[in-house]
Amino acid sequence: MELCKVKEVVAKMTLEEKASLCSGLDFWHTKGVERLQIPSVMVSDGPHGLRKQEEDADHLGLNKSIKAVCFPAGCAMAASFSREAAARLGEILGEECQAEDISTILGPAMNIKRSPLCGRNFEYYSEDPLLATEIGTAYVNAVQSKNVGTSPKHFMANNQEYHRMTNSSDMDERTAREIYLAAFEGMVKNAKPWTIMNSYNQLNGTYLCENKEMLTDVLREDWGFDGYVMTDWGAMNCRVEALKAGCNLEMPGGNCMTDKQIVKAVKEGELEEKILDQSCEEFLNIVFKYVENHQKDVLFDRDKDHEAARALEEECIVLLKNEEDILPLCKEKKVAFIGKYAAAPRYQGGGSSHINSAKVDSALEAVKAWADVVYAKGYDDDKDVINETMLQEAVAAAASAEVAVLFVGLPDSFESEGYDRKHLRMPDCQNRLIEEVAKVQPNTVVVLHNGAPVEMPWIAKVKAVVEAYLGGQAVGSAVANILYGNVNPSGRLPETFPLRLQDTPCYITYGGEKDRVAYSEGVFVGYRYYESKEMPVLFPFGYGLSYTIFTYKNLTVEKERFKESENIKVTVDVTNSGNRTGKEVVQLYVGKKDGEIIRPIRELRAFDKIELKPGETKTVEFVLNSRAFAYWEMEIHNWFVESGSYEIQIGKSASEIVLSKEVWVEGEHIIPKLYPKIPNNFIHW
Ligand code: BGC
Repeated sequence: MELCKVKEVVAKMTLEEKASLCSGLDFWHTKGVERLQIPSVMVSDGPHGLRKQEEDADHLGLNKSIKAVCFPAGCAMAASFSREAAARLGEILGEECQAEDISTILGPAMNIKRSPLCGRNFEYYSEDPLLATEIGTAYVNAVQSKNVGTSPKHFMANNQEYHRMTNSSDMDERTAREIYLAAFEGMVKNAKPWTIMNSYNQLNGTYLCENKEMLTDVLREDWGFDGYVMTDWGAMNCRVEALKAGCNLEMPGGNCMTDKQIVKAVKEGELEEKILDQSCEEFLNIVFKYVENHQKDVLFDRDKDHEAARALEEECIVLLKNEEDILPLCKEKKVAFIGKYAAAPRYQGGGSSHINSAKVDSALEAVKAWADVVYAKGYDDDKDVINETMLQEAVAAAASAEVAVLFVGLPDSFESEGYDRKHLRMPDCQNRLIEEVAKVQPNTVVVLHNGAPVEMPWIAKVKAVVEAYLGGQAVGSAVANILYGNVNPSGRLPETFPLRLQDTPCYITYGGEKDRVAYSEGVFVGYRYYESKEMPVLFPFGYGLSYTIFTYKNLTVEKERFKESENIKVTVDVTNSGNRTGKEVVQLYVGKKDGEIIRPIRELRAFDKIELKPGETKTVEFVLNSRAFAYWEMEIHNWFVESGSYEIQIGKSASEIVLSKEVWVEGEHIIPKLYPKIPNNFIHW
């Protein structure tokens, strides 16, 4: 419906009807107005599968939802470093939503991984805002190409589960713009999400639901967002203030109390009716867009989507270690699969994203098609206790084989929506199992099923490590395909694996005190911190191995000196010098040399994933604009490019730069007025 028609509809509504549109009908539906043919539509979780609840509803994944397909979680999807994979997932979810008449899927979950302790990191993409925003853009564009809305969440700075409904994330403007907002920015500008979900927390002491700077000044005015903002479930504070700030819809609904507050505020002159009108227009615009374009008769083919879930996970799995090329396994070798997760993988996390999976593949079942493996359970994951009998059976199975593959990871009780982790350890019983198996079997491979980094005290004692993340319901067969070389691994870590929790940038402040969390590490999040400190890590951001070898040559930059307003072409040749087809993630970082401003030593500014046959060379091209060189200058409240030299670096990870070139960039803006130097207030918004 055209906007002028939407305005006409709103003009016909009574004050009470307009106020009623500002909250949901029930847990999953928005309200309609029958006399004006305004329909009620359904929204549903998200983000990596449908959690459509037809009966008892909840936002914790407790009650039943329809049988659906669980795709790789956000942690895994980001590891694909593949816009195509994210788009494929989006298209499928869009079709599933059409089939189930869901107007909006509640996702993707875009928050930055400030600390590996966040219980919900498994749903989030990355510690790097460019990677998060690019994967999010592809997903949102693809879902919406099916005329179904998305609700990227949780806007913004929702980086811990501890006190998530009350805490305040306290940070300066530069940190917000360069890290926490940047994770959303490209996605909002390039994919135009139909809706946005605001987070539970506060930013610098103001709840996000009533944060005008965020919901109106940044989201709508700076970035051009023109959809509607809904609260996270139960994230409303003051209804009238929220409406003024730009929050359109309170979810879940079912309680008309806050609608009455709106009516009263308008009648008493506390709220201008035109603010309410505008909010209804923004909301109805999206509702009609869905209803008018809804494609019926679409089939939700769970079997077909299961196959797609496998193909997606195969793009995501990261090979972390592969000494003596122990992988891929040869089908004739005598192999023991050890660990509960070989037979019953952990493939998704707990909470609102929990899918009632139509089926689940196990690696143990999948390999039967081509290999004969022995199996020992080794441990249970409901409690962290060592079961000596299971342990000894596992050790015996490992000793009798030529290779032992251990399937381990984090149990549900170690990470979930709703609470944070206390440490980065895997269960003691699993660590002990790995140690004991490695003692009797020199050819030990570890497969990890986890949503966030873990410490690996046994790393030197095993030959290979495969990070499967929470890979969705087809993870078992995807892992089997990687282990036996049916598929060449091509995932890369979207986050740093630190050596120990104490090394993490916000170790001291994470969780906060008295409901205030000081983001005092500023922009030094993830690899921006570790690389700047030249600190050893277990595995760096962007890292991952392949069964083939890629070599880099001929880094060219169109010009050595250029102005910030010019778009600059950078090319690099990548060759597959091994003997298998494989995919490489080419990463471009930029670092400022000798600047006046304290900045990370390097920041990811572009990436691409390419496939190469043995012997093949491709030239990868990137185009950099001023944002690749800019930082957020708080004196002018804008992006700013310092004149001077910068290094353009091509890396296999944030720690391994293989080629670099120095360039000189001329900044074209000046800081108009330098304020007298006063001590910088920590909260500078
Ligand atoms: C979660 C959201 C989710 C909503 C509805 C909330 O608790 O934070 O991500 O979409 O519940 O289930």
